[in-house]
Amino acid sequence: MRIVLLGAPGSGKGTQAKILMSDKNIPQISTGDMLREAAASGTRFGLKAKSLMDAGNLVPDDVVLGIISERLTKPDAQEGFILDGFPRTTQQALDLEELLDQMGTPLDAAVLMDVDFDILMKRLTGRRTCSLTGKLLNIHFSSQEELDECTNAGGELIQREDDNEETISNRLEVYCENTEPLIEYYRGRGKLLTVDAEGPVNEVYDRLVAALSSANARPLSTAALTGRPR
Ligand code: AP5
Repeated sequence: MRIVLLGAPGSGKGTQAKILMSDKNIPQISTGDMLREAAASGTRFGLKAKSLMDAGNLVPDDVVLGIISERLTKPDAQEGFILDGFPRTTQQALDLEELLDQMGTPLDAAVLMDVDFDILMKRLTGRRTCSLTGKLLNIHFSSQEELDECTNAGGELIQREDDNEETISNRLEVYCENTEPLIEYYRGRGKLLTVDAEGPVNEVYDRLVAALSSANARPLSTAALTGRPR
């Protein structure tokens, strides 16, 4: 399974990718996570990336492509991968296509996680990550039991630096301008699947798996779309 998860900030790409990764044993490759690691390392490159991310702007295409090219050659990515947050521009999509063609491993599907924009702000301002397990949680949507599980074990609920209202607004604008056109890009290539990504996490996951199975069973150009039509 070689897939891209597309969707606005907060649409649940990371949440679903993590479940799919442990369920299907294929790696989640998140450019956001890799860039945050680089930022935390404090190198010159990391600091430059951090300033762009803190403002909600995109890191240059060639930089992200370099990171992805290297990651896709790792042994764990040979049987499949879930790309989370990449590609994010038409140029990145073209570069990815060329790279995968060279490797002889074309993409199976691009899955759009479809969520109404008015829900995203609440999901993003409420997002917290458990410092012990890295589990994604939400002060508005996770159960008290899940939140307590982290803090009772001595963990902290960490908020991402770009999850403040001003930066989120810019991230959403950047998404509309740069990334939303990829919906048509992948539709035109017969690779687009749409999943209704609202509602409980486990229900969204069931829809995601159903969409991927239907795509597997038929040529993608005729695959049924799941969820709300766009
Ligand atoms: P990145 O880390 O990729 O952030 P993003 O795309 O903005 O996406 P998020 O991680 O915010 O959201 P998500 O869809 O993964 O949602 P999540 O599952 O966490 O990128 C960060 C920055 O890095 C970019 O702004 C850019 O600067 C740079 N960057 C990264 N990739 C790049 C690229 N390719 N090119 C250039 N620059 C790049 O869920 C969000 C919250 O909602 C969580 O709290 C979760 O618990 C909750 N939630 C999830 N699903 C549900 C549900 N069904 N119901 C209720 N709550 C839910």
